[in-house]
Amino acid sequence: MCGIVGAIRANHNVVDFLTDGLKRLEYRGYDSSGIAVFDGEKIKRVRRVGRVQLMEDAAKEKGLFGHIGIGHTRWATHGGVTEPNAHPHISGGLIAVVHNGIIENFEDERTRLQGLGYEFESQTDTEVIAHSVKHEYSLNGGNLFEAVKSATKNFHGAYAIAVIAQDNPDEMVVARMGCPLLIALGDNETFIASDVSAVIAFTRNIAYLEDGDIAVLRAGGIEKLIDKTGNPAQRKVKVSELSLASLELGPYSHFMQKEIHEQPRAIADTAEVFLDGGFEPENFGKNAREVFNDIDSIKILACGTSYYSALTSKYWLESIAKVPTDVEIASEYRYRDVIANPKQLIITISQSGETLDTMEALKYAQSLGHKHSLSICNVMESALPRESELVLYTRAGAEIGVASTKAFTTQLVVLFGLAVTLGKMRGLVSSGQARAYLEELRQLPGSIQHVMNLEPQIAAWAQKFAKKTSALFLGRGIHYPIALEGALKLKEITYIHAEAYPAGELKHGPLALVDENMPVVVIAPNDSLLDKVKANMQEVGARGGELFVFTDLDSHFNEGEGVHVIRTPRHVGVLSPIVHTIPVQLLSYHAALARGTDVDKPRNLAKSVTVE
Ligand code: G6P
Repeated sequence: MCGIVGAIRANHNVVDFLTDGLKRLEYRGYDSSGIAVFDGEKIKRVRRVGRVQLMEDAAKEKGLFGHIGIGHTRWATHGGVTEPNAHPHISGGLIAVVHNGIIENFEDERTRLQGLGYEFESQTDTEVIAHSVKHEYSLNGGNLFEAVKSATKNFHGAYAIAVIAQDNPDEMVVARMGCPLLIALGDNETFIASDVSAVIAFTRNIAYLEDGDIAVLRAGGIEKLIDKTGNPAQRKVKVSELSLASLELGPYSHFMQKEIHEQPRAIADTAEVFLDGGFEPENFGKNAREVFNDIDSIKILACGTSYYSALTSKYWLESIAKVPTDVEIASEYRYRDVIANPKQLIITISQSGETLDTMEALKYAQSLGHKHSLSICNVMESALPRESELVLYTRAGAEIGVASTKAFTTQLVVLFGLAVTLGKMRGLVSSGQARAYLEELRQLPGSIQHVMNLEPQIAAWAQKFAKKTSALFLGRGIHYPIALEGALKLKEITYIHAEAYPAGELKHGPLALVDENMPVVVIAPNDSLLDKVKANMQEVGARGGELFVFTDLDSHFNEGEGVHVIRTPRHVGVLSPIVHTIPVQLLSYHAALARGTDVDKPRNLAKSVTVE
């Protein structure tokens, strides 16, 4: 978590870039922020607890100005949310550092540096970087690059850092290990950031650093870059295609609202790969045919919302492609004794592509001998696709709201495409059937758009939810993971306690919770389990529970005392879980609005979780 930025601008003040960039990175953490700039005489720093806006106001009030500077937005790990713990950290008034990641051996380093006479002002792991670089810098007579190179040798863990020195105000040194970092090249100005969204208003020419890289930057560009072996290296400069409009709110009140409404477009864009190229293995990578022919099963590793898309896809992969599929939370998988199977395809799913637990789970699988891996990811050039043999990107566009919406539904599109592709390769999906599936994909954005039209009805339900303290979500079969996703959305952004159960499991415990205060959301489309779900709903009704049923047009539910029904306008068959995700997203969004919570930046959470 945390986001870092930095800039050297020969002809401009860096403060506007730093604060603008940090605002765009706030999704990575938003409990405190700070910037440090060299003002021609000294490094000056402004830090504030709270949102970047507060820090920006303070920086403006102070009239901060400079041609080189660094900035940070924080999601606290080591040390509470206080100003002394906010970055940048400064050592000896000379060296300023911003850091994303975790220095695991910071306690040993702190003891070592205290032994050398350094005093610590914060409880962060980052302060050891500042002092350690300062120490090396003093020893080597003021070579910042060599100082960072020596200091980083002592660190275990993950980091992306940017360092400036007061007596060397034309250069910045950056280093990357395990956390994302890019360099953006402008006209006599050079920027760094954790993510491209921070820089594209300034330049689109981007070079992504690799793990182990250390670089010296000046306004004119990259002066020197070494890779993890210590040898000089070059990183390709690519032109980012990310649209600036996708980073702006436009007419919407929140990014989550915008991203929910963008789903028809995002799904159409993501489905294009299959609509244009058919269900062919090559969509997943050049050697995907070979890989898919070599596998006997699938293991999917993911966290959060991405884990629920994995759970949903198990139903497709086993019913359409008949490939045994196992789904596991990445943070659990990485710490247990696993019976490895080299013929099992490891799939990682991640919006950000940098979730640490998912990344480490992949590395663990690889260390056990799993040779085939596929990443489904929304962020180009991020860590997971880079570590994977195959990749298919979702084309959701930038997702900024912390609660994931369009990333989830686009992941489902890719996973459905994978199931059909594997089914076709195994002779289980005829070309006629494949054409029918393509047609369903083609119709999907339209069906989603129809569901958006239900927003006023869903918003009316949300008013009732806003007053509750708990909610239950029920689903069966492939709609059970959608119930899980609905409960996650509700708790993430409204702070209402919500749980999801497979409806058949209700009687084995959660039914005890049901009374007239417990709203029970049921995802009940007209599929083969509908009658079973109806029976489970009777169990709720009989205990006075209030039912809120999302179903489709032809499933014959009657409204009545304690039973509210919203019908999606079409029954969409195999893609029904994607369509039924929209109502639970809208329900949470409107309940959060009614409760007045911070929809896009819910308390205690961050979008990109690069800590354990
Ligand atoms: C965080 C986000 C969630 C996301 C999860 C996994 O918890 O708040 O929205 O689902 O991380 O993230 P990933 O980027 O790996 O999909």
